[in-house]
Amino acid sequence: MHAIVPSRLIERKRDGAALSSGEWQAIIQGYVAETIPDYQMAALAMAVVFQGMAEEELAALTEAMLASGKRLDLTGIGKPVVDKHSIGGVGDKTSLLLAPMLAATGLAVPMISGRGLGHTGGTLDKLEAIPGMRTDLSLEEAVAQLRTLGVVMMGQTPEIVPADKRLYALRDVTGTVESIPLISASIMSKKLAEGLDALVLDIKTGSGAFITDPEQSLTLAKTMIAIGESHHCHTVALLTAMDRPLGHACGNALETEEAIMGLSGSGPSDLMEVTYALGVEMLIAAGAERDRPTAQHRLEQVVESGAAKTMLATLIDAQGGAAGVVEDPSLLPRAPRAVPYLAHRGGVVAEIAPRTIGHAIVELGGGRRTTEDEIDPSVGFVLTAKPGDSVHEGQTLGTIHAQDEEGVRIGVAALDEAITILDAGQATPLVTHRVTLEGVERLQC
Ligand code: URA
Repeated sequence: MHAIVPSRLIERKRDGAALSSGEWQAIIQGYVAETIPDYQMAALAMAVVFQGMAEEELAALTEAMLASGKRLDLTGIGKPVVDKHSIGGVGDKTSLLLAPMLAATGLAVPMISGRGLGHTGGTLDKLEAIPGMRTDLSLEEAVAQLRTLGVVMMGQTPEIVPADKRLYALRDVTGTVESIPLISASIMSKKLAEGLDALVLDIKTGSGAFITDPEQSLTLAKTMIAIGESHHCHTVALLTAMDRPLGHACGNALETEEAIMGLSGSGPSDLMEVTYALGVEMLIAAGAERDRPTAQHRLEQVVESGAAKTMLATLIDAQGGAAGVVEDPSLLPRAPRAVPYLAHRGGVVAEIAPRTIGHAIVELGGGRRTTEDEIDPSVGFVLTAKPGDSVHEGQTLGTIHAQDEEGVRIGVAALDEAITILDAGQATPLVTHRVTLEGVERLQC
């Protein structure tokens, strides 16, 4: 291993130099082996936040992080291996639809997801709303399930990119999450460990996303695509709107129920538009389809025939969950109070602020304030009104799901703040840009 003096490397990075591949390997190895302490790693991460990283340097960091753990070995699986990753949002349950849909088309989907972070929800929390559902599969269990079923939905194991497990927790408490190179290395090292042929990134943009500026979103997309492609993983990104919650349901069990509705052919139109857009990209990126209309038709068929819903039931059963929820969503936990929220005035819904909704879910108990918090999967909102809808005074805009009167009060206050009704307004487009190694395609303005 490269002999390094961490304090010298921190100084060099602070002053704008690019560290070499050997130096990054030594840093990551030292950090995992605990010979480099958290305080030095935090200082180095902060230097990266301010100085950024050259492309080769970022490739070296990603490679070193990937090498810190094991990868899924799917050799001989005989089907394209594909995944999608979303950069966090509110009401975003597309993973719960896409994993079974793509598996039902015959692709392998090793989906390793995260928990809710800040105001955003996480796929693992939504899955764990299903009674008995396990997401803590070992690497061996995951590979075995992928070979028999073609799909797994699970959390990061201790063997997959252990460097990121430590570094992400450190960044979370040292103000070093918001860095395009650090986010890119963190996400892409975990995705590349899945042994993917293709990856589709859903880069959420707008007031409810971690990245609010579309230019920054494009830079993040291009950075992650460059990493993926250099590792022979065909990577494509869509920029999608997160200036409003996606779909109607926000909150873990409510979102799982809405995903099941989507697989049953009755999902809200905005959720289905984003889901199909991402699914089409997954099929094409994996080389399973050549053109959009055919790919869309194939996905619609697995929904209409019930094959995607059956795949979800089989997946839930394989991971110890109550597969009956797929036919009877009332088996999901339900909050005792479900109270309608009415429009204060007539007009057009101009805004539903996703961040306010996300923070309110945390306050209702549906998200974590500390990593140790237990969450209440039953609470949240179902917001049937969407930006651009004309509404009249007293119309029901949605429902607050809470444990008690205090929860209802929190919910009402949040919706008073989040929902703006004006005399006029219109919804912005949902899927705005498609980014590949070749460049950026503007889809809707
Ligand atoms: N999600 C991750 O896994 N890593 C980041 O750095 C940010 C979001």
